[in-house]
Amino acid sequence: MQPFFAERFGNASSIYSLGQDARQAVDQARQRCAAVLNARPSEIVFTSGGTESDNAALMGAAIALRERGNHIVTTRIEHHAVLNAAELLEKLGFDVTYVSPGRDGVVSPEAIEAALTPATSVVSVMLANNETGVIQPIAAITERVKRIATEQRRTIVMHTDAVQAAGYLSLDVDALGVDLLSLSAHKFNGPKGVGLLYMRRNTPFAPTQVGGAQERDRRAGTENTPGIVGMSVALEAADASREASAAKCLVLRDRLVAGITERIEDAHLNGHPTRRLPNNVNFTFARVEAEPLLMGLDLAGVAASSGSACTAASLEPSHVLIAMGNPVDQARSSLRLTPGPENTEEEVDYVVDTVAELVLRLRAMTGRSRRR
Ligand SMILES: Cc1ncc(COP(=O)(O)O)c(C=O)c1O
Repeated sequence: MQPFFAERFGNASSIYSLGQDARQAVDQARQRCAAVLNARPSEIVFTSGGTESDNAALMGAAIALRERGNHIVTTRIEHHAVLNAAELLEKLGFDVTYVSPGRDGVVSPEAIEAALTPATSVVSVMLANNETGVIQPIAAITERVKRIATEQRRTIVMHTDAVQAAGYLSLDVDALGVDLLSLSAHKFNGPKGVGLLYMRRNTPFAPTQVGGAQERDRRAGTENTPGIVGMSVALEAADASREASAAKCLVLRDRLVAGITERIEDAHLNGHPTRRLPNNVNFTFARVEAEPLLMGLDLAGVAASSGSACTAASLEPSHVLIAMGNPVDQARSSLRLTPGPENTEEEVDYVVDTVAELVLRLRAMTGRSRRR
């Protein structure tokens, strides 16, 4: 990325040689990203990240198809980049059906099919959930959606938010069958503030960011050359090491789950036990609030998070855990641990020890240990 901040600073949309140098770098990056997705370079639209890609996917497809249908199907466990875009579309007159997952966090293809109406134009289901890591059966969902669209001779655009899956699952757009797919570079060790939207050829799309003719008129604005270059190299590297990283993380994840389950009573693993990303563990500990647990972990040098959005004053209950049928107090007190391939078994053991001690201490402080 470095040369594109300084000596190679040309604008990729300019005619002069410095601009053409940047253009070449952006084109190469587009080819690299397309290769990982098994897509054509022309089907890659660079964006400012996952949020923009999700917003553009939902709104761009819904608006383009509004004459043919104004119904959108999505799920209750999507990231807010999708949920809030769907809400905005509702305010603009679209109808949205929010499908619930099962207790295990999996959205069934049958439930998506049941939500389709003759007016459905867009379906958006994430590839892997950001809180629980639960992996959704996207290929099976797409297969049903497309079969119905073909039978009824209409268009239903299928989008998946693959932001959390990158680096751990295959992003082959033909195997997934999707028309639109969102990625965010910082989720696979790339720079922050850059992402992409894969857009299958001929997908109906009305651009929501308008102005210049960049990205073949699908996303206006001067290209973020250093970010795009950095993302493409990171995506290529993440994909090349995907299986090795997944295998390493799986060992660490299973060690974390086993250690926590063995050491802490009333610990509940949220989400399907195996149908989840290899780097995700999400626990609820009965009678323990997430906030002091997170603070204690931070003091001990462990960077963890709660599944829910933490503000200074309160911890919002997780919409994902609520959608999975958990009561609000449980949805407010989940702990999410995401080991990476660079972590070690010793670090995992340290985390298990630290979490176990903290849970014990917090329960003792609040007098909420279980009475036998
Ligand atoms: C599943 C999912 N979608 C979208 C986003 C938003 O991505 P960005 O922060 O790049 O806008 C995130 C970020 O955490 C995410 O986890």
